[in-house]
Amino acid sequence: MLSQNELKQQVAQAAVEYILPFLGSGVVVGVGTGSTADLFIDYLGNHKDRFLAAAASSERSAQRLSGLGIRVLDLNEVQSMPVYVDGADEINHRLQMIKGGGGALTREKIVASVAERFVCIADESKVVDRLGKFAIPLEVLPMALGSVSRKMQALGGQAVLREGFITDNGNPILDVAGFSLDDATEMEAIMNNVPGVVTCGLFAISPASVALIATQQGIKTMTA
Ligand code: A5P
Repeated sequence: MLSQNELKQQVAQAAVEYILPFLGSGVVVGVGTGSTADLFIDYLGNHKDRFLAAAASSERSAQRLSGLGIRVLDLNEVQSMPVYVDGADEINHRLQMIKGGGGALTREKIVASVAERFVCIADESKVVDRLGKFAIPLEVLPMALGSVSRKMQALGGQAVLREGFITDNGNPILDVAGFSLDDATEMEAIMNNVPGVVTCGLFAISPASVALIATQQGIKTMTA
C-alpha cells in the first residue's frame, strides 16, 4: 500500500514525463503551488536544460525553482506556455477543481490562464463526484471580509477567516464551507461577482485539460 506522499511522488514524476514532448529551447513551463507541485518541481529540475524558464504561481514555488537553477520569469514577460502543471484540493470527473488550500489561488488562476493546457496532478483522494466538501477558498480584499462573509451566508455557506495567513498579494482568505455543488460554473460566476472577492478557488469555468491521478493501481489519466 503506497502512502499519500508516495502517490504524490509518482504523479509528479508522471507529470514530468507527460510534459517532455512539449519542452524545447524557447518554452516556458507554468508551475503551480503545493506539496504535489513541489515534487513536480524537484523532478523538473532533472530536465532544466530542455526548456527556457518557468512561470510560478507563488513565491514559494519560485524559490524552489530558482534553488534548482531553473530561471523564473515574471508572467508579464511570457506570451504563451504549452502547459501549466498544478495540484488540486478536489477534482471532479469534469476536471473542475477546488484550489487554494495553499493560498496561491489567485496567481494559480492567472498563470493557468496563459497556458494552453492545465495538467492537474493529484492522488486519488482528491477525486470527488461533487465539489464542495473541501471549503472553497476566497481571496478577499481586507475591507470586504465582513460584507463577503455575509453574502456567503446568504448563499447558504459559512465563511471562516484563515487565521494568521496572508497571500503573496497581501490579502486574507475566507474558506467557505457548506456547499455541495451541482453546478460549479454557476457558483464560480456568482462568487466572482461579489464585490471584494479577488479570486474564487473554484476552477470550473476553465477546468483542467487533463488530470493525472495517482492510484494504488498506477497512474490514471482523466480527460473531460
Ligand atoms: C495551492 O494554493 C493549492 O491550490 C494547491 O494546488 C492545492 O491545495 C493542492 O495542494 P497539495 O498538492 O499540497 O495537496
